[in-house]
Amino acid sequence: MLRFPDPPLSDGTITLRAKTRDDVEALVAACQDPEISRWTRVPSPYTRDDAEGWIAASELELAAGSAIGWLVVDADGALLGSVGVQNIRPEEGVAEIGYWVAAAARGRGVAARAVRLVTGWALREGVARTLEITVHEDNPASQAVARAAGFALTGERDEAPAAGSPPGRHLVFSAPA
Ligand SMILES: CC(C)(COP(=O)(O)OP(=O)(O)OC[C@H]1O[C@@H](n2cnc3c(N)ncnc32)[C@H](O)[C@@H]1OP(=O)(O)O)[C@@H](O)C(=O)NCCC(=O)NCCS
Repeated sequence: MLRFPDPPLSDGTITLRAKTRDDVEALVAACQDPEISRWTRVPSPYTRDDAEGWIAASELELAAGSAIGWLVVDADGALLGSVGVQNIRPEEGVAEIGYWVAAAARGRGVAARAVRLVTGWALREGVARTLEITVHEDNPASQAVARAAGFALTGERDEAPAAGSPPGRHLVFSAPA
């Protein structure tokens, strides 16, 4: 059964915790950034309904064993971003990692730290044997995150672009590399 690790995943700088209804306001604020909707499935504009729907959907996905998602917070509990393991396919031994970091928290290693924590956990727990990150070719920041977290470029995938994305190829990064 898929469940949140106890104690929570942390590297001493960031901590990963489950989201709650109390996070709606901070999520709505962070997700106004067009960079997030450009490269992810996060809708734009982003409303309270979107945040509440996302929290509810995440609970269902966790219960179904198809995905588990965390909020990334700092030592003071402030929201830094989101990271999750999704599209868990036990029969193939494969799952995907997705993430975004709030604009104000970028450029200081938050995403790479979060991906490292989640990847280590998922491999240790046997959630998957291989983890993948799918990144648009025009998203160098996310490609750098994948590499910084120890993923290697292993191929390409036909994928419908996110609503705000330009057309283009999607690169697949895999770990263990
Ligand atoms: C991509 C994103 C998550 C990066 O978050 P972040 O916390 O700023 O990334 P980190 O600070 O952990 O950076 C990790 C690596 O990426 C590099 N990087 C970060 N932003 C970059 C940019 N704009 N261009 C090039 N490299 C970049 C860093 O230099 C670092 O590389 P290094 O380890 O070699 O120094 C963030 O920009 C974001 O949320 N973007 C919008 C949503 C998105 O693209 N999600 C991923 C969809 S696949």
